[in-house]
Amino acid sequence: MKLLVIGSGGREHALAWKLSHSPRVEKVYVAPGNGGTSQTPLLHNLDIQDTDALIAFARQEKIAFTVVGPEAPLAAGMVDAFRAADLRIFGPTRAAAQLESSKDFAKAFMLRHGIQTAAYETFSDPLLAKAYIARHGAPIVIKADGLAAGKGVVVAQTLDEAEQAIDHMLGDGKLGEAGARVVIEAFLEGEEASFIVMCDGQHVLALATSQDHKRLCDNDQGPNTGGMGAYSPAPIITPALHNRIMREIILPTVQGMRRDGILYTGFLYAGLMIGPGTDSQRTIKALEFNCRLGDPETQPIMMRVKSDLTAVFEHALSGTLDQAEIEWDRRTALGVVLAAHGYPGAPRQNDPISQLAPDTDTCMTFHAGTTYRDNQLITSGGRVLCVTTLADSVLRAQQAAYEAISHTQFEGRQYRNDIGWRALPSSKA
Ligand code: AMP
Ligand code: GLY
Repeated sequence: MKLLVIGSGGREHALAWKLSHSPRVEKVYVAPGNGGTSQTPLLHNLDIQDTDALIAFARQEKIAFTVVGPEAPLAAGMVDAFRAADLRIFGPTRAAAQLESSKDFAKAFMLRHGIQTAAYETFSDPLLAKAYIARHGAPIVIKADGLAAGKGVVVAQTLDEAEQAIDHMLGDGKLGEAGARVVIEAFLEGEEASFIVMCDGQHVLALATSQDHKRLCDNDQGPNTGGMGAYSPAPIITPALHNRIMREIILPTVQGMRRDGILYTGFLYAGLMIGPGTDSQRTIKALEFNCRLGDPETQPIMMRVKSDLTAVFEHALSGTLDQAEIEWDRRTALGVVLAAHGYPGAPRQNDPISQLAPDTDTCMTFHAGTTYRDNQLITSGGRVLCVTTLADSVLRAQQAAYEAISHTQFEGRQYRNDIGWRALPSSKA
């Protein structure tokens, strides 16, 4: 069979790579793909972005099914368009993708269906927004309502910072339409985890747990990013907590969408804040929903998949996810992102990538912002590579990743040295 994956990031490289391991797969097209997907066996880059042209391609090539990686095409209705053309595609419809594309929609939805989340209010008037933060004090969190490519959330430590964020979004309109409304919510403390499931509208299949590292620098310092590294499994998610997350967050979300007349199909990613205490004491609150896989969480998650993923997608597309199972490698996978100089603000492009670690069964370099120009691999985006390893412990996976990074070279690369620290036994001391 031939498959189509939409996107160009590390998430899509890892997903297409794992799909290509199925003995049934002849080719995986990645549209538009990146420098890495252009070189991986069985993957082929496809230089088409327009939805109608992709539909024509999928028809002509008899694509068995399409999987959409990023949120923007989902929010723009790519799934609706493929389905209207009678093509099989895995992802949420435009209506369902509002869980990610509008923070106000997501918050109102959670409130309506009793899903725990931070207290909030939504504003379009900067004066009213400022009065609200003056009443609540800092720290406080300001979020642009719409999609802002990872630049829409400000965790303000002071009232000054909060006011600046409001001026930036509501006053100066720096984020355009996405920032024309803001959600202001209470600051939550705890440990973050990423909980990602597949949905077929009714049934839910949980993927392996994972944790991301959102800040640019070691010790969780510096600006927020799209994610600087991740690992799977996340030891904080014990079996007891797993059950609570399914019962308290995931199932009420899928059922709530159904009750609101929207069938949720596709990946559903709940960004969670887990409070302190024993498993039964911990608070579990949803920080956000994404209607897609996480990046970089997908890279370690895919390293651990032992099953034929095509069969899982076929169940998801047929409404029989309750009959699907994924076998996970019991080892730990860990991915370290190498970002370009200037990321996340203004990433520099066109730096030659002079050295890459060799890919093996336990060490893969997934590409994101890379491209070939005149046969030279160069940087072409903020997050450039994600070196992902599989090993018997978090420590070993971490050591292997940094060893591989010592054989990976491009000018101006930035990476964290402490990916996985929360999962190391020493951090529990
Ligand atoms: P979001 O895109 O909503 O997940 O926000 C991006 C990041 O901001 C999260 O991964 C958290 O690190 C942080 N964040 C978001 N909301 C809150 C909150 N209510 N309290 C504390 N941190 C938050
Ligand atoms: N790693 C966070 C995200 O994909 O949104």
